[in-house]
Amino acid sequence: MNQVYEKLIKCTEIVKAKANFEPEVALILGSGLGEYAKNMDVKVEIPYSEIEGFPVSTVAGHDGRFLFGYVNGVPTVLMKGRVHFYEGYDMTDVVMPTRIMGLLGAKKLILTNAAGGVNTEFKPGDLMMITDHVSMFVKSPLIGPNLEELGARFPDMSHVYDPELCDKIRKASEKLGTNIQEGVYVQCTGPNYETPAEIRMLRTLGADAVGMSTVCEAMTAAHMGMKVCGISCITNMAAGILDQPLDHKEVQEVADRVKDKFEKLVTEIISTI
Ligand code: HPA
Repeated sequence: MNQVYEKLIKCTEIVKAKANFEPEVALILGSGLGEYAKNMDVKVEIPYSEIEGFPVSTVAGHDGRFLFGYVNGVPTVLMKGRVHFYEGYDMTDVVMPTRIMGLLGAKKLILTNAAGGVNTEFKPGDLMMITDHVSMFVKSPLIGPNLEELGARFPDMSHVYDPELCDKIRKASEKLGTNIQEGVYVQCTGPNYETPAEIRMLRTLGADAVGMSTVCEAMTAAHMGMKVCGISCITNMAAGILDQPLDHKEVQEVADRVKDKFEKLVTEIISTI
């Protein structure tokens, strides 16, 4: 058996043995958005460290665990803390948690992240629904022998962000009176922030927001037929837009400031999908 698939199945079996729970929705929380669990009726928690072979996040403030429970009655698995490529893991490890949640039965994936605003119309604290992405600056998670059990060798990426889910996000934000931007997200490797020249380049290429996650997970989920949607919290203007250096503390502070509106929106989305 392919090594990546073998490890995936082993880890999935461990999770299944610890949580007898079939999620409908999977939710991955970004930096500073990790308190969402309080909106959930949690039934089972599994720290990543209890899953042998599972990549464990090293970033301060990323408390790594799966939470299984109900959001307004909808069976949901939540990833509190994700694994980033910049931590040095192979891409196949970075996306393994996404695959596990898919194999557990989650049909829909909601991705969230903190991102830099590349579009100069945006401002820190805005939320942006991801309509499409640019993946070319990071290694594709699908490189290597294709996992035929999961999906096609050459998967279509025309509609990674499911149009129906996107409509539901628009409706949810309208209902809550929460303004939401829309745009294209670009994943860079990190861990360094980008330079002003890189941001000008990304803007020329059609980017609205930039970050260090999400795209690889979205591609993996799309490969295995999950319906995907994503929301970025614009925590700062990307490099060179304002005359000030970028700082992880600022990212966390802004994420913290908007977390109520963000959490309400996510709950409304889960309730309607
Ligand atoms: N660049 C990359 N990743 C980020 C940023 C940024 O400006 N802000 C939050 N995550």
